[in-house]
Amino acid sequence: MASEHETLRVVVLISGSGTNLQALIDAQISGAPFEIVAVVSNAPGAFGLERAKRRAIPIAVVDHRAYPDRASFESELARVIDDHDPGLVVLAGFMRILTPPFVACYLGRMLNIHPSLLPKYRGLHTHERALAAGDSEHGASVHFVTAELDGGPVIIQAVVPVLPDDTPQTLAARVLAQEHVIYPLAVRWFAEGRLWLGSDRRVYLDGQVLETPYRLTSGS
Ligand code: GRF
Repeated sequence: MASEHETLRVVVLISGSGTNLQALIDAQISGAPFEIVAVVSNAPGAFGLERAKRRAIPIAVVDHRAYPDRASFESELARVIDDHDPGLVVLAGFMRILTPPFVACYLGRMLNIHPSLLPKYRGLHTHERALAAGDSEHGASVHFVTAELDGGPVIIQAVVPVLPDDTPQTLAARVLAQEHVIYPLAVRWFAEGRLWLGSDRRVYLDGQVLETPYRLTSGS
């Protein structure tokens, strides 16, 4: 937890376009009390690396294909992350499943964003699944990362309506725009020392247990 005198050091892990990374960079530029000290990608061609370079943020690539197994990949990933001494690790579209030993190293200081209203639709193809189920609302969730895939305690959710003529693409775009609101907010709370994961595995915000995730609802 950062005191009011220090800036939280954040390492962001990506695999792709990095629009959530961009939202975090923009929040930092606007004065949020954290500093992205490195961006790490498992995919050498991830566009998010360009976003980091534009802002002179150090980048690293740990290409999972270069390692014989998950353990050796994760061991190098941890080495690269720890080199930057982060107070928080932020998964922003990082598309590798992380093993329990890796996750345990960062318990309480690693966040993920998932494009569904968890616990609904863990895993992939969330927008398709929400449409197929006929849901009237959908969204995204920021959660602490635990060993259970997309199963860690949820901090904040953005809720958007599902519209009658939505396709997976239009729905995804509506959700993504709200991801860019809630992720910087959650990271800011953590940086301000207002948010933490208790030893009881519950989310604390401003000293209170968050019984249900904080919800931001937007129009269409
Ligand atoms: C987002 O939808 C996020 O919820 C999911 O992967 C996507 C990443 O998008 N985990 P981007 O790379 O931040 O643009």
